[in-house]
Amino acid sequence: MNHTLKKSLVFAVIFILLCSLVPLTLLLSSNKNNNRKRNEQNPANEEKLILGFSQIGSESAWRTRNTESIFEAAEANNIQIIFDDAQQKQENQLKAIRSFIVYQVDVIAFVPIVEDGWDNVLQEAKDAGIPVIIVDRQINADSSLYAGFLGENGFEEGFSAANFLVKKCKDKEGPVNILELYGTENSSVVINRAEGFRSVIKKEPRYNIIRTENGDFLRSRGKEIADKIIQENGGFKLGNTKIDVIYSHNDSMTLGLLDSFNNNKIAPQDFIIISIDAEQKSIDALVRGELNCVVECNPNLGPTLMKLVKEIAQGNPIAPVTYMNETIFTEDDDFSTYTPRGY
Ligand code: AHR
Repeated sequence: MNHTLKKSLVFAVIFILLCSLVPLTLLLSSNKNNNRKRNEQNPANEEKLILGFSQIGSESAWRTRNTESIFEAAEANNIQIIFDDAQQKQENQLKAIRSFIVYQVDVIAFVPIVEDGWDNVLQEAKDAGIPVIIVDRQINADSSLYAGFLGENGFEEGFSAANFLVKKCKDKEGPVNILELYGTENSSVVINRAEGFRSVIKKEPRYNIIRTENGDFLRSRGKEIADKIIQENGGFKLGNTKIDVIYSHNDSMTLGLLDSFNNNKIAPQDFIIISIDAEQKSIDALVRGELNCVVECNPNLGPTLMKLVKEIAQGNPIAPVTYMNETIFTEDDDFSTYTPRGY
């Protein structure tokens, strides 16, 4: 082998070795400090904040839109998201938040699947100096452990649903029997929607919640529950007791119930049906006369979340509670000019 060939071979081997080390170096440098260094080398990235975000899953079209809104707004605000989908498990959320702490993200945001069990991990984030924003659902923890909450007012949603019902039934005589479909057990949104609804109907003893069923916020569960009631009772009733009203805590379960009604040739118009979320499909059902009232739960909280992230990152305090604007759609509305929902 001549000298020049030998030299080229040695050079090639060194080059290959260097190339194979690059991905390893990148992997090892995946922490905030190194990220900062990379940002310094690339001034366009210099101000890029890192947000660790734990979402609970994708149980409904509402949830999918909620995640999209957060990603869109992050991109528009030049904020980098480290995302984790908890697949409906609190333990996965706890793991994700702990990994965000190890990574030393600038801010953590998460949608708490249930109200309780967050104190320890929030204390760990606080000790690490990482502020936390609670998104969509609320928690039972000392407010000194997190920066603030951004999301819906579940109590108000239940309150509005019941106000519609009371107005609708003002000329009806006799008892009003209600079947309630609720979502994830021990979630703040379920607790608040239930309380808001009850705070109104309790004023008149003729309003009776005769059955309350857990449909996990899922369309499939809404259908299963309705199918079972129909099979066991030979119609959508409970024994000899007529069901007058269905109060469903989300559109997915409501749409599942309508699937079952459709299969079993039951007319939704024989009931008063009230739902929450205001997905396009449920507005379409409202327009067709299959629902009577849909209370909006606004999933588009991405832009406000990014505003709060930036405020916190600049060391400014944020409001302890920020509620999203929400509206109510009813059978009396004119839908000829309304804007499509987008989810
Ligand atoms: O927490 C918001 C609720 O969660 C929405 O009403 C529901 O659709 C979602 O799954």
